Formats: sequence, structure tokens, C-alpha cells
Amino acid sequence: MIMKKKIVVIPGDGIGKEVMEAAMLVLRELDLPFEYIYMEAGDECAEKYGTPLPEETLQACKESDAVLFGAVGETAADVIVKLRFELETFANIRPAKSFRGVKALYDNVDIVIVRENTECLYKGFEFEFDGVAETVRIITKKGSERIARFAFELARKEGRKKVTVLHKANVMKKTCGLFRNVCREVAKDYPDIEYNEYYIDAACMYLVMDPWRFDVILTTNMFGDIVSDLAAGLVGGLGLAPSANIGEKHALFEPVHGSAPDIAGKGIANPTAMVLSACMMLKHLGYVEEAIKVERALEEVIAEGKTTPDLGGNLKTMEMAEEVVRKLREGLRA
Ligand code: NAI
Ligand code: MG
Repeated sequence: MIMKKKIVVIPGDGIGKEVMEAAMLVLRELDLPFEYIYMEAGDECAEKYGTPLPEETLQACKESDAVLFGAVGETAADVIVKLRFELETFANIRPAKSFRGVKALYDNVDIVIVRENTECLYKGFEFEFDGVAETVRIITKKGSERIARFAFELARKEGRKKVTVLHKANVMKKTCGLFRNVCREVAKDYPDIEYNEYYIDAACMYLVMDPWRFDVILTTNMFGDIVSDLAAGLVGGLGLAPSANIGEKHALFEPVHGSAPDIAGKGIANPTAMVLSACMMLKHLGYVEEAIKVERALEEVIAEGKTTPDLGGNLKTMEMAEEVVRKLREGLRA
């Protein structure tokens, strides 16, 4: 008997639940040796149990082979940001890739953002006293080196050519300075990969005007959060943007988007980001072929215009997922 992989599934709030249902339909079609363990977290969970991230949920995540996460609402800082810290998933990988048939600003964009996930301004060290508020930014040599190596290794593994560091070391001389200096040092160990740097503000302009100059982007936590939404916007929106949170012991996969209260409950959220996040999970667990099959099916469905309204189609979330399943079955017959 083979040991089943334990996958903790956290649908969360709003469209998190809707896109998770869609992704699970696709995953179950693959019939893999996975045990899916559903756990709660988020705004609704907080209302029910008085805490947005119950101890049982955290424990289940720590004992899992992978976590599949939908999205939560206002409790995001206490749920997803906390989970990333608790699971020590120090690398947040966010690809932004053009899709055939998607009307976007540009075609042929193919960028991977590698965002440091456990330090920076999101550490939660905030204070307020007598009309003065402060947030402390923590950047460590160890944390910077770990994420820099991860980015260069990813570049090598994926056959990518260039790593670009985004920072603001001219103003934040200490924190960004340390990060950039460590990245420069690490780059010396990878002479086969081109290395360059931009200030974060200029990089935002380059991203909008000339996204092809980027391949792998390496940056700190908050800058990474912001530029990943920007990059998602370049290729057709948040409905298409998946992500992986990788650590030494744990891994969590989630769409970049949130619970989208403006469209929640309507059944029209694009499931692509969630399904692609599940594909990142499959690859992480060694099921590369299956992941590629799902990605191909999804690409074809999108190219045929069988999409949700955000991409100009008129399908519902589950209908789009059913189209993907149909494609997978056609593929199996072929
Ligand atoms: P959001 O990502 O939920 O939505 C931004 C915009 O993109 C909205 O117009 C939404 O309709 C659209 N959108 C997002 N995902 C989509 C999809 N799959 N298909 C079609 N359209 C999609 O970000 P927003 O509005 O800033 O935040 C809403 C809530 O989500 C907040 O309570 C926030 O705290 C939470 N949030 C949670 C995150 C997480 O759980 N990882 C991440 C970001 C926000
Ligand atoms: Mg974000």
C-alpha cells in the first residue's frame, strides 16, 4: 500500500471557497494518492470560533505534505501572513505568464517573482504612542542569503537567464543595502546567470513599459507583494496569478488574489489562479507530468474563450473547471 500524501485544504472566505471547489474538481479528476484534509481559517472562522487561525488548523498544516489555500478576507494578516511565518516558507514564488487568447497589455511576458516571505515590514513589529506610529523593518543576512540562493537555483532549474534584484538602497541604506549586498555576493556563485539591479520605483516603470527585460525578479517581502500584483495586471489580472510558498519543511500553495468581496457569492471568480497554484503543488510533490497536463488543458480552455467574465467570457467558475476536466478526459482518450 502506498502512503497517501496529506494535503490540507483551506478554502477560507469569499471566492476562496469558490475557486477551491473548482480546483478540487480538477484535482480529483487526476486520481492521485492524496488524502485531502479540509480545515478552517479566515473571517468566517473567526466569527464561529473566536479565532481566524485555530490551533488545529495550524497543527494540521505543520503535519501535512502540502497546504492548498484559497483566500481569506480582513483576517489575512492573522491567517496567511502568520501561516507563512509559522511554516517558515521563506520563499514566495509568483509567476506572471501570458496566456494565449487573453487580451492583456502584452504578449509573451514570462516573469517569475521570488519574494522573501518571512522578514521586512510584514514582520508585524508595529508600535503606536502619542500620535507616532512605527513599523520596524527587519532584514537579516541569513534571510537574504537564503532567498537569494533560492532565486538563483530556481533560475538554473527552470533554464532562466537573468536574476534582477529590486531594492531601494539609496534611501533605506541599512535594510535594502544589506539585502542588495548579500544578493551581489550570492550572484558570484552563479556566473552562468546574468545579474542586475534596479531601484524599485524605476523597476515599476520598466515593468509596465518593457516587461521583457525581466526574467527572475528577486526582492524583499513588501516590494514583492506589490510588484506581483503589478505583474499579474500585465498578463490579464489576478484571476490568472498563482503562487507557491516554499520552506525547508513545509509548502503552501495559494492564488495571489484575496477573497474579492465585490464578486463573492456570484460564482464568477476565475478559477485559473487557484488551479495553477494546485499545479505548482503537484510539481512540488513530484507529479510534474500531471501538472503539465492540467496546465495544457487550462491553456486550451482559455484560448478557446471558455472563461469567466474577467477574461471576457460568460462561464461560471464551476463551468470553467468542468471545461478543464473535459479537456483532460479528451487528452486521456487521445
Ligand atoms: P482581491 O485580490 O480580493 O481583489 C482585487 C480585485 O481583483 C477585485 O476587483 C476582484 O474582484 C478581482 N479578482 C481577484 N481575484 C479574482 C478572480 N479569481 N477572478 C476574477 N476577479 C478577481 O483584493 P482586495 O479587494 O484588495 O481584498 C479583498 C479582501 O481579500 C480583503 O479583505 C483582503 O484583506 C483580502 N486579501 C486576502 C489575501 C489572501 O488571503 N492571501 C490576499 C489579498 C487580499
Ligand atoms: Mg498581495
